[in-house]
Amino acid sequence: MNAYIRSVGAYIPEQVWTNDDLARTLDTSDEWIYSHTGIKNRHIAPDNETASDLGVKASRIAIERSGLDLKEIDMVIAATATPDYHGFPSTACIIQDKLGIPSTGAFDLRAACAGFIYSLEVARNFITSGMYKNILVVATEIMTRVLNWEDRNTAVLFGDGAGAIILSAGTEDDKKGIFQSFLVSEGSGAEFLKIRGGGTRYPYKLSGMTKDELYLYMDGRAVYNFAVRALVDVVKNLCSRSRIDINDISYIIPHQANIRIIQSAAKRLKIPLEKFYLNLEEYANTSAASIPMALNEMCEKGLLKGGELLLTAGFGGGLTYGGNLFYW
Ligand code: ACO
Repeated sequence: MNAYIRSVGAYIPEQVWTNDDLARTLDTSDEWIYSHTGIKNRHIAPDNETASDLGVKASRIAIERSGLDLKEIDMVIAATATPDYHGFPSTACIIQDKLGIPSTGAFDLRAACAGFIYSLEVARNFITSGMYKNILVVATEIMTRVLNWEDRNTAVLFGDGAGAIILSAGTEDDKKGIFQSFLVSEGSGAEFLKIRGGGTRYPYKLSGMTKDELYLYMDGRAVYNFAVRALVDVVKNLCSRSRIDINDISYIIPHQANIRIIQSAAKRLKIPLEKFYLNLEEYANTSAASIPMALNEMCEKGLLKGGELLLTAGFGGGLTYGGNLFYW
């Protein structure tokens, strides 16, 4: 039994904040942000929308394009680092209810920016085991709601959005479907990228918490070094395990974190930057959602006709990283 991506959808909020918009309240500039990150814009979810709302909108498009009936969806997996609720209920349950998918398994998968990669591999195993036929994997993030807007080191890097796919059982046709994944955890780097407060280590306090406790913290240099190493490792590992020449890959779809990370990895891999599909200039870093959002954009631009060899590569908090290799 094979598992292939049957359809894709995305939802990106309309409101755009440019680098110049940020520079009105932060000690930064368009020149600094663009030259250090490759980011120009980010899209911002309206105050009345939550991660599940974005996820539902992306999922509706993927489901519509799949041609499936809601009752044919066997499971919902939501990859998110910015869930509707801390702890529980899971965002996947809320998405399942809002979509009107009849009673089925639904859970959140927490692997930060690598969440979509992990979720795809989990879904693939449910399908290749023969247990399920169609799984909705939705990655949805409102990163701008967990940022300290006074911290220029992090505030300029992120945006909001959602991407969804339907993974379906296919045939044994090895020219369509996921055939290799690679998942890694480096928990020793947990301190480099985290949202400190609200868990059992630093529980919420009625007396109030500082911004450092409430919002995203990042050691930029440590994360940068990790991300370049992780991206190179994913590509090399997936190629060598599958005995694939890197030049045979049509596109690498990386987590859209920062152009410098991707340039550096391309150099180490000795491949042109054009091998990577990039859209971070417009959307910034949307954590787990960035890869399915990019995949959706590639489909809508007509870049994928069928038969292309694609490699996804994600890396993020945890620290986590990994990738999937598949024929479109
Ligand atoms: N505007 C202006 N100046 C800034 C800004 C900003 N937005 N942010 C940081 N700076 C300043 C710092 O305060 C520092 O100033 P100082 O030297 O006076 O202390 C200086 O810029 C640092 O400059 P550089 O050393 O040139 O910056 P660097 O090359 O280290 O780049 C960056 C910083 C972009 C954050 C880099 O560390 C990086 O790319 N890290 C990875 C971050 C990332 O992409 N994270 C994504 C989230 S994690 C994920 O998705 C995996």
